[in-house]
Amino acid sequence: MENSSSISTTLLSITFFLLLIPSCVIFVNCNTFESESISIDLPPIPDILGFLDERLALIFPIIQAFKNTITSDPLGVTSTWTGPNICNYTGFYCDNPPDNKTAVTVASIDFNGFQLSAPSLDGFIDQLPDLAIFHANSNGFAGTISPKIAKLKFLYELDLSNNLLSGVFPVSVLNMPTLSFLDIRYNSFSGKVPPSIFTQPLDVLFLNNNNFFQNLPNNLGDTKALYLTLVNNKFTGPIPPSIGKASATLTEVLFLNNLLTGCLPYEIGFLKRATLFDAGNNLLTGPLPSSFGCLESAEQLNLAGNLLYGQIPEVICALGNHNLLNLSLSNNYFTKVGPVCRSMIKKGVVDVRKNCISGIPNQRSAQECFTFFLTPRSCPRAAWFNFIPCKVPPRKNSTITTTTRKRSLLSYSALSRNNRVLL
Ligand SMILES: *[C@@H]1O[C@H](CO)[C@@H](O)[C@H](O)[C@H]1NC(C)=O
Ligand SMILES: *[C@@H]1O[C@H](CO)[C@@H](O)[C@H](O)[C@H]1NC(C)=O
Ligand SMILES: *[C@@H]1O[C@H](CO)[C@@H](O)[C@H](O)[C@H]1NC(C)=O
Ligand SMILES: *[C@@H]1O[C@H](CO)[C@@H](O)[C@H](O)[C@H]1NC(C)=O
Repeated sequence: MENSSSISTTLLSITFFLLLIPSCVIFVNCNTFESESISIDLPPIPDILGFLDERLALIFPIIQAFKNTITSDPLGVTSTWTGPNICNYTGFYCDNPPDNKTAVTVASIDFNGFQLSAPSLDGFIDQLPDLAIFHANSNGFAGTISPKIAKLKFLYELDLSNNLLSGVFPVSVLNMPTLSFLDIRYNSFSGKVPPSIFTQPLDVLFLNNNNFFQNLPNNLGDTKALYLTLVNNKFTGPIPPSIGKASATLTEVLFLNNLLTGCLPYEIGFLKRATLFDAGNNLLTGPLPSSFGCLESAEQLNLAGNLLYGQIPEVICALGNHNLLNLSLSNNYFTKVGPVCRSMIKKGVVDVRKNCISGIPNQRSAQECFTFFLTPRSCPRAAWFNFIPCKVPPRKNSTITTTTRKRSLLSYSALSRNNRVLL
């Protein structure tokens, strides 16, 4: 409260000051004449007069203080951060804030690829009260994220990807009702992701390439995200059956390269909007649920590099007559395929290299397969593996060849460090 009263005092005095000299606001050069006759110890009047809006005058010292903390600026962007014309600083974008359509403020910052280094963003983004968008992909910002960003009431896109940020998950973003895009991939965040992030109405949640280490939270399926990437962390435990609850929204989901265990829940088959489901390179076991045959939007399904076994359900291979371009099941322990799968293997839609399927080339050795099956394996809820929770799409006569169909997948670009992921 003390803060806000001192801000309003400042606001009042600036407003008052502007009222005193209205002619100077109109005639830009009026002070040059005055400055010759008055003491040279005056405050920097030209600067104050030059601000387009009092909101810009207030954040000017914040930006300058941040500029002073920058230790590396190979592209020289901060050389443009001088003078009162903040809206013209490289990386800063002004707009009218939602709470006053005649005011002008810094609404958006895009530092993507600027390669700036600073020990911290604290005291900077948390002090820009009207910030709606902050993009800082591929910089060298270190430190932790200030809890104070919770008060940024308009913030809806926060991209801190590919920096040197550390500490726990930035819990201040929880309960930020406006936030819809959160990208913290390629940092060194560690510990646990709070389960409540999955109840927050985010469209995009990119957590890949950090050091998160925990069982996947049971409420994962509460997510409203369209794009969810958990790749390259240390997530453990099974994929929670709640994932089926995300059927109305989840479009691309990536669990690739974690330590997930257990059997695949049939509820994944409810994800009728999913174009991409990737749980490759984990420790998942059990059969492939037939419910995957309901993933009628799927373009790419990757379960390669797990411990899956049994027959590959024909309904899943039949998705190759719909949108499926790539079903990757290599490096597992599948033992059987039917005629539909065989034809999709021939077409290059289904990849079953390094499995245990007789009569198919490039399989594991008999010894490897034998050793794997020496260990007894089973899944809970075994009866559900044959359950197909949809009317299987009627078989189309596929006239379109796979090469002429266009992919529309987006999250894979989040797996490259420097990529900005534009929606
Ligand atoms: C804005 O910056 C550009 C160069 O970055 C410069 O050419 C232009 O004059 C500036 N405009 C104002 C109003 O300062
Ligand atoms: C809106 O912003 C303008 C420009 O800064 C300011 O003059 C005006 O007093 C503000 N209106 C309110 C209601 O705060
Ligand atoms: C199919 O998906 C796998 C796993 O993501 C990938 O390694 C492979 O390159 C893809 N194949 C094609 C032809 O896109
Ligand atoms: C699909 O193929 C079947 C048998 O090959 C044929 O009888 C049918 O007319 C075809 N339908 C279309 C829509 O091409």
